[in-house]
Amino acid sequence: MKAILHADKEWGIGKNNSLMFRIPEDMKFFKNMTTGNVVVMGYNTLKSFPGGKPLKDRVNIVLSATPAKCDGCIVVNSLKELFGEISKYEADKVFLIGGAMTYKTLLPYCSEVLVTKVDAVGGADTFFENLDKNPDFELVFESQPVETNGYIIRFTTYKNLAVKQI
Ligand SMILES: NC(=O)c1ccc[n+]([C@@H]2O[C@H](COP(=O)([O-])OP(=O)(O)OC[C@H]3O[C@@H](n4cnc5c(N)ncnc54)[C@H](OP(=O)(O)O)[C@@H]3O)[C@@H](O)[C@H]2O)c1
Repeated sequence: MKAILHADKEWGIGKNNSLMFRIPEDMKFFKNMTTGNVVVMGYNTLKSFPGGKPLKDRVNIVLSATPAKCDGCIVVNSLKELFGEISKYEADKVFLIGGAMTYKTLLPYCSEVLVTKVDAVGGADTFFENLDKNPDFELVFESQPVETNGYIIRFTTYKNLAVKQI
């Protein structure tokens, strides 16, 4: 499984259960990576989508401890159930797409983290762990800066050197 996210200079990832940035180049990257694959998310992230609807052309797996309902999603209510579900797919096809709570729980199981770094401070209320301070993670790729829609972004990949088996 790989995690995918965008983060600001402070590793902020969200505000008021929403994203802080809508950057078309980043959205295109997210879509390219995840379309035709499996996306895993927490219930708050599902609710943050327009109309609370799942992402199309992807298998949507949603973690919720309450018996949440969602047309077009597979709802799992424990990590055990989640692991049973994602083991049906090749690990490289499974993308963890947030949010903060779900990233935190599942980060040890991710082989890679794809972070689009936004050179801005968005005033986040929700954060991802600073991977530069985590010795288990190594920055293995960083793109040249891309100037887009008034933002400077960089596509980066962190490798998990101590990935936990599911
Ligand atoms: N920058 C990015 O790339 C990015 C990507 C995604 C999300 N975000 C942002 O992240 C924020 C949302 O993050 P969040 O931490 O509030 O929410 P979240 O991780 O999306 O969802 C949390 C919910 O997921 C369920 N859940 C999580 N772990 C579980 C487990 N082990 N077992 C059962 N259920 C579990 C629970 O749902 P129930 O309460 O139903 O039990 C929990 O309340 C928003 O601001 C969003 O925009 C940012």
